[in-house]
Amino acid sequence: MSNTTNVAAPLQHLAIIMDGNGRWAEERGLPRVAGHQQGVRTVVEIVNECVRQQISCLTLFAFSSENWGRPESEVETLMSLLLEFLASQRQRMLDDGVRLRVIGDRARLSATVRSALNVAEEETRDGGCLTLVLALSYGGRDEIVRAARQIARRVASGEIAAEDVDAADMASALDTAGLPDPDLLIRTSGELRISNFLLWQLAYAELYFVDAFWPDFGPVELRQALDDYRQRRRRFGLTAEQTAAGEGLSNSAS
Ligand code: FPP
Repeated sequence: MSNTTNVAAPLQHLAIIMDGNGRWAEERGLPRVAGHQQGVRTVVEIVNECVRQQISCLTLFAFSSENWGRPESEVETLMSLLLEFLASQRQRMLDDGVRLRVIGDRARLSATVRSALNVAEEETRDGGCLTLVLALSYGGRDEIVRAARQIARRVASGEIAAEDVDAADMASALDTAGLPDPDLLIRTSGELRISNFLLWQLAYAELYFVDAFWPDFGPVELRQALDDYRQRRRRFGLTAEQTAAGEGLSNSAS
């Protein structure tokens, strides 16, 4: 690729840590569930905006492996909201060419949730505009451990030699196999952490932290983040001259 202006590579993959639902509700004297309900409305708006912006992949951190430790009633609420989301957005996803994909430890999800996710993934499999990746029961360390076990099994069976294992093998053993690495990570609610999200895949992502709570993060705020991203100069460990010449603009380990 030749590029003499050293601009950011096009944004293919956006990842978001949707934080602040609880505080949004608390500020209004509402129960936390109200924040999550409003958070789902924001999910719908942001998915639509990503389709409009021709972003090809959006990964949302919807439920972390640590979230299992929340009060049972809150976990149940989040799972119900997920099921409602899948039912209410089914037709829209099909119409808009949105393909659903799930990452995380599915074994911990209930049979009902697993089955609804399987159906949605199957039904939307031909969606060619946006891949919507929901990280559910997801933890970056857990994902890396599962990938390492998979590779260890291949080594133990003699399929590959330990010294031949490389970053591409690792990338293709992760839940995100086949997806480009995120170009931009957004976290809402003013927290400055990545909280065990996509630890391997975020290696070269641009980071964007915004004070707005997730329910207040709409298309306008998303466009501001995208504008900010377009001003960034990504170097992938190379010199400014090299990136100006178009080297290293691919953000993928695979
Ligand atoms: C963080 O807010 C948000 C979550 C733990 C869950 C995110 C879930 C949704 C937006 C709804 C379900 C998702 C889909 C895709 C239908 P928090 O509760 O940690 O907020 P706090 O830090 O202010 O307490």
